[in-house]
Amino acid sequence: MEDLRNKYIEAIANAADEAALEDLRLQAVGKKGEVSLKMRELGKMTPEERQVAGPALNALKDEINAALNAKKAALADAALDARLKTEWLDVTLPVREQRRGTIHPISQVWEEVTAIFADMGFSVAEGPQVEDDWYNFDALNIPSHHPARAEMDTFYMHREEGDNRPPHVLRTHTSPVQIRTMQEKGAPVRFICPGRVYRADYDQTHTPMFHQVEGMAIGKDISMANLKWVLEEFFSAYFGTSVKTRFRASHFPFTEPSAEVDIQCSWEGGTVKVGEGDGWLEVLGSGMIHPKVLQAGGIDPEEWQGFAFGMGIDRIAMLKYGIPDLRAFFDSDLRWLKHYGFAPLDVPTLHGGLSR
Ligand code: PHE
Repeated sequence: MEDLRNKYIEAIANAADEAALEDLRLQAVGKKGEVSLKMRELGKMTPEERQVAGPALNALKDEINAALNAKKAALADAALDARLKTEWLDVTLPVREQRRGTIHPISQVWEEVTAIFADMGFSVAEGPQVEDDWYNFDALNIPSHHPARAEMDTFYMHREEGDNRPPHVLRTHTSPVQIRTMQEKGAPVRFICPGRVYRADYDQTHTPMFHQVEGMAIGKDISMANLKWVLEEFFSAYFGTSVKTRFRASHFPFTEPSAEVDIQCSWEGGTVKVGEGDGWLEVLGSGMIHPKVLQAGGIDPEEWQGFAFGMGIDRIAMLKYGIPDLRAFFDSDLRWLKHYGFAPLDVPTLHGGLSR
């Protein structure tokens, strides 16, 4: 009986899994198990023998059953431990990176420009991109025979056959918004108009669609001196360093006198640096609003006067952020957007900083 005990207790201790345990249970205490067979032999014993063997066999059976149950629980615990090890989760790991879009440099610069001019009391005006040719040309003192119409490489919209009215155009500049805003707001007035404009042109510095920001201030005694101060103030805030401007006499049909404006820069090492050196870079057209333009906007030129300017947003974005090719702005290349784009929450303000 002692051999039987040792044999099963050891085998149970070494059982690898529940199936092996079940085999052992059948071999030992199952209906035809070794212990059960021994119990059957009790009947053939003398009462004296039975009195000793009976309790001993019962005790052995209990011991084996207890060992089976304990081993079964131990195997289940081990299985659970192994499973927990593989399903272990480290809740302190950083979260998986989220794909996040960026703000396009044009949108960013648009906001920067708006923030700076808002601080100088300019509101923001808008106008249609498909424009009546009267607003785009005639009202701006560009009559139909004027060479500026041909020079601008205008996109014309076709009229229905038999409709002889002049065609609509994709606006070639933001200047038509001057007229629309004067008509709507009257004088005095002070606004900028950022927007898309269109010209049939394509090379490293020209795309068929690009962005301008128009500026206009009308009052009783607004002069070129105010224009120069406003522009220097703007460029210094925008580039984050004091920037000198140079006014060169020029010609635009809608301003008189007219000036092209250059900003101070250096060309050293093949890169342009604004606000230092003694080089110059042309960035905008400007002048005192032509009396005919004031009139077209419904404002009396005998009573009011003012300045206007128009500047390329893409151009100043390229200058500030060192972007060499204008065409890449509109290619929608994700690598480019990731490199030059801005964080969505990096909203430009004068107090919080225009850009990081
Ligand atoms: N509209 C002109 C251009 O597109 C710029 C300009 C605007 C010039 C206002 C003078 C005054 O080139």
